[in-house]
Amino acid sequence: MAQANCDWKTDRFCLGACYYPEHWPEELWADDFRRMRELGFSIVRMAEFAWSIFEPEEGRFEFGLFDRAIDLAREQGIQVILGTPTATPPAWLTSKYPEVLNAKQDGTLYRHGQRRHYNYNSPVYRELSARIVTRMAEHYKDHPAVVGWQIDNELNCEVNVFYSDADHAAFRVWLREKYGSLEVLNRAWGAVFWNQTYTDWSQVHLTRPTPSDSPNPHQALDEKRFFSDSAIAFAKLQSDILRDAAPRQWVTTNGMFGHLDSHKMTEETLDFFSYDSYPNFSTIYPDKGERPLLDRKWSLNLSAARDVSPNFCVMEQQSGPGGWVNMMDMPSPKPGQMRLWTYQSIAHGADMLLYFRWRTAAMGTEIYWHGINDYHNQPNRRVAEAGIIGEELARVGAQWLGSTFRAEVAILKDYDNEWDGELDKWHGPFTGRSVSAWFKALQRRHIPVDTKYVRASTTIEELAKYRVLVYPHPAVMPKETAALLKRYVEGGGTLVLGCRSGYKDAAGQCYMQPFPGPLSGMCGIQVEDFTLIGPYQQAPQVKWNAAGAGTLPGDGFADILRVTAESAEILAVYASDYYAGKPALVRNRQGEGTAYYYGSVFTEESAGALIKVLGLQSPASEWGELPEGVELAIREHHSNGNKFAFLLNYAHDIQTLTFRKPLRDLLSGTEVHGSVAMKPFDVLVLELDS
Ligand code: GAL
Repeated sequence: MAQANCDWKTDRFCLGACYYPEHWPEELWADDFRRMRELGFSIVRMAEFAWSIFEPEEGRFEFGLFDRAIDLAREQGIQVILGTPTATPPAWLTSKYPEVLNAKQDGTLYRHGQRRHYNYNSPVYRELSARIVTRMAEHYKDHPAVVGWQIDNELNCEVNVFYSDADHAAFRVWLREKYGSLEVLNRAWGAVFWNQTYTDWSQVHLTRPTPSDSPNPHQALDEKRFFSDSAIAFAKLQSDILRDAAPRQWVTTNGMFGHLDSHKMTEETLDFFSYDSYPNFSTIYPDKGERPLLDRKWSLNLSAARDVSPNFCVMEQQSGPGGWVNMMDMPSPKPGQMRLWTYQSIAHGADMLLYFRWRTAAMGTEIYWHGINDYHNQPNRRVAEAGIIGEELARVGAQWLGSTFRAEVAILKDYDNEWDGELDKWHGPFTGRSVSAWFKALQRRHIPVDTKYVRASTTIEELAKYRVLVYPHPAVMPKETAALLKRYVEGGGTLVLGCRSGYKDAAGQCYMQPFPGPLSGMCGIQVEDFTLIGPYQQAPQVKWNAAGAGTLPGDGFADILRVTAESAEILAVYASDYYAGKPALVRNRQGEGTAYYYGSVFTEESAGALIKVLGLQSPASEWGELPEGVELAIREHHSNGNKFAFLLNYAHDIQTLTFRKPLRDLLSGTEVHGSVAMKPFDVLVLELDS
């Protein structure tokens, strides 16, 4: 069975690109690898969509094309990550075995012609996938240039729901294992409501089209857990093979997508996690509010990636304008932005990074998804920028390898609330708004923040390393999680909760007790009354007695609180509507720590007021003053306490920083002291005293 984990750490920063030899005339390959080496690249990823090159017809395998390409890479000292090609089953496969295709909820099959058109549960797809992975692993297991494997490509990207016949059948097996009997299933799904009681397993399905698109919510939550487990089982099928057949090579996969517990997948199948970072998505889907963070918001996504693997690989880093023929029309990164995004990934924990892609494809859906090189292959500004980054990382990049991001604040998340909240409009939409509000408020004050997923396996030690935890709206709150949070607070931690916390159990059913359910005692409150704020209603006004904040609007919801403990203090009251004068923010001391309950959805202003109440400060206050447009991230070596401050200027204009003591910038090799002007998109990496 699967071997022990394989170490992926190296003594140099590995920089590289995604390369598709099958897209180009063979005469270009040697020159491509030579130029990569000259830019300071040392790694490429290839083959993740090339199934029909390896197996042009069923059972006939050919390795010549990739053998030649990999040998040429090796001649230039370039290492290779091989993708298993299961994201794109060949036409011979999908036409002979249509049962491998994924289906929409109404049963319509996705057909050949794009990618990710398969399902994870088809027995024949699993068998043919296992075979191609086995053959590739056996062929490349001893190749000196091949260092690792990427399983599939972006599991659950493009489509993250699966309704083929094989999925319905596998769901029944999954449910039998989880519930044991139909009686237990019927209870968990509240099936007595609207007469959904099942009397035979054959009646049980994944959600199917219903009037008003409104499936049973408990079934819908289980369905997402099942989609996740299906993807993980598919990854495990492959990683077991790779670890058995190619034990010298490490295993990863890339991307963080919906309905997939990336933590569990990484624990059960990978050596480490890889993320694909495309900060220019922020230009087509900017976050809401007057002052969106745009590309800087990617730091929040990266914080989630490093919660999976504290050091991770960015397998695809945006290096040009992005766009498919039919959508995702993004502007070109401005000069310096590609370098900024590279250091953004590194600042947040990336220890290996590959650009997507070496050269823009001249055919297919992604002719506008630009790589470093243009179709014409002549020198351009992106190639020149890659060369600067390559030189810098070769010179200083090894110094921070293995160091990890340092934060004393974490925003808590969990998969159940994320998945339950997709259907449940009474809490789901609030989380994104509050997380964004907190993230912006902390970012602009240069207070580094982690994303921490709460899981069944989460320990008190993992939480206790944070001074402050913000869990905005955990509606689903199993009693065990509530007990863990209480221990965290009693042990000296500070926990901040928002409205709608704690009223559902793990099945998504409501506790028959006052809100916030099992969190009530710790918070010293009960929710006496509550109201959703409709689209045409005025936001609840909240009058703060603390932080000199005055009156600030809440957002979306009002939990009207009643204090139930003597240790509880009212820090703010509502100042509008029928609940004016009632508590809106309560602080309760518990053991050595403190719990805060805020009855609304957070805004950047209310998060800012709480930051003041909590006395949170930027670690930069010890050595300098930073303008709002610059991000601070600190990586630290646990072995010797060496720290690096990454300063990233996302602003399109010059930003002025003040350093109270001299510090050395590793990238330029110069000292910064006093007032320093940072060019648009520029980066500093400062050595801090340990
Ligand atoms: C990623 C994917 C790549 C490429 C890129 C640009 O999501 O892994 O294969 O498609 O996006 O669209």
